[in-house]
Amino acid sequence: MINVTDAARTILARNDRGGYTVPTDGLYPFQWNWDSAFVSMGFATFDIDRAYQELERFIQGQWNNGMFPHIIFHVPSDSYFPGPDVWQTDQCHSKKPLTSGITQPPVFGMALRFLYETVLATGRHDMLARTHTLFNAALRSHRWWLEARDPDKRGLVAILHPWESGSDNSPAWDEALVRVPTTTKTEICRQDTKHVNATMRPRNIDYQRFIHLVEVYRECQWDPIKQWSHAPFKIADVQMTAILARATADLIWMASQLNLSDALGELFTMHQLLINGLNSRWNQHIRGFVSLDLISGKDIEKPTQTCFIPLIALELDSYQRKFIQEEIERWCQGMVIGIPTTAPFSPDFESKRYWRGPVWAVINWLIADGLRKNQLKELATIIEGNTISVIERAGFCEYFDPITGEGLGGNTFSWTAAAYLVLRRRLTDD
Ligand code: GLC
Repeated sequence: MINVTDAARTILARNDRGGYTVPTDGLYPFQWNWDSAFVSMGFATFDIDRAYQELERFIQGQWNNGMFPHIIFHVPSDSYFPGPDVWQTDQCHSKKPLTSGITQPPVFGMALRFLYETVLATGRHDMLARTHTLFNAALRSHRWWLEARDPDKRGLVAILHPWESGSDNSPAWDEALVRVPTTTKTEICRQDTKHVNATMRPRNIDYQRFIHLVEVYRECQWDPIKQWSHAPFKIADVQMTAILARATADLIWMASQLNLSDALGELFTMHQLLINGLNSRWNQHIRGFVSLDLISGKDIEKPTQTCFIPLIALELDSYQRKFIQEEIERWCQGMVIGIPTTAPFSPDFESKRYWRGPVWAVINWLIADGLRKNQLKELATIIEGNTISVIERAGFCEYFDPITGEGLGGNTFSWTAAAYLVLRRRLTDD
């Protein structure tokens, strides 16, 4: 029988491009922001030096203003659209390597803690300087988040492009996206549908809007203040805010381990602001947390995985805990594998289309973390166990059809391999 742990390590080795990992060969030929953070945790289960390297290569792309871009174009490739010629971030950001101009969920701080815990557990004494460098980069990026994406100090950070959410095609963005014009100056040469069946991917009309947004921000020369005032799409996202809040708590832990008392005060203030912001987003009808469309002023009451992610940052009260547990169980009823990224009873549910139903291993990992944090370990263990089983059956696919358990999208995915390694070890340790 093939050892699946070895197979997961092989995927990471195969997708290694010299110190950084591509999400999968072909479809995504560069280094992606949150993918890399998850992948570094996967590496940390067997090669801590390589885990650090993943984050070190990633911060080479950090902008002078602190932003961590969503893609780092370490080497050219024409198998992905839009490439650096569309983003044109080099005009205002001289640093190499080239990057995209938007960001992605800040899992980086969570990963850094995970890596440093591994360092402490293995008694390595030679990682301090490397850890400090990564910590400083993370702190600068958190400052950027609050300044650039929460200028009104609501305690909720905003996305200006659906791609920033990491859940690119989620129904949560539909209403806001419809307001974005479909006109583009750029010729759209989609590459994704050459690798993956078009019925699983975003529609062409969505792509036109995605590119329209890129052009608006490019015309703002990627200046955060101008972008904020010109953005045709602006959503205070609870998934993003929750990840940022959790990562901030993890940086607080790091700062105390590293005796960085100056950073501590600042991090505590950030954390409190974000926790208050998140707590204000509980929605009794959805039985979860909801994002806020900052342009229409409306709550986004769509049942997507986003509603459960705040568990990773918050201590829920007993009613919220009960509602969320019931809701997750309801979403998984009749499914071969949960948790679907859109509730199966929603009219938006599509079991095979990107972020409109399929299960992602890393989302299950985050939600299971949140359940453990909120004393719902039993449910967490079920989700972790199911995630491991579906990977063992279907392979290291990008995502899975919840109704059939079939593996979909790219099939040698780095973050699925990382999720396998981390969740498998967790269940063994339990
Ligand atoms: C897709 C996903 C995004 C991910 C990227 C690379 O764009 O929606 O979350 O980071 O692929 O895997």
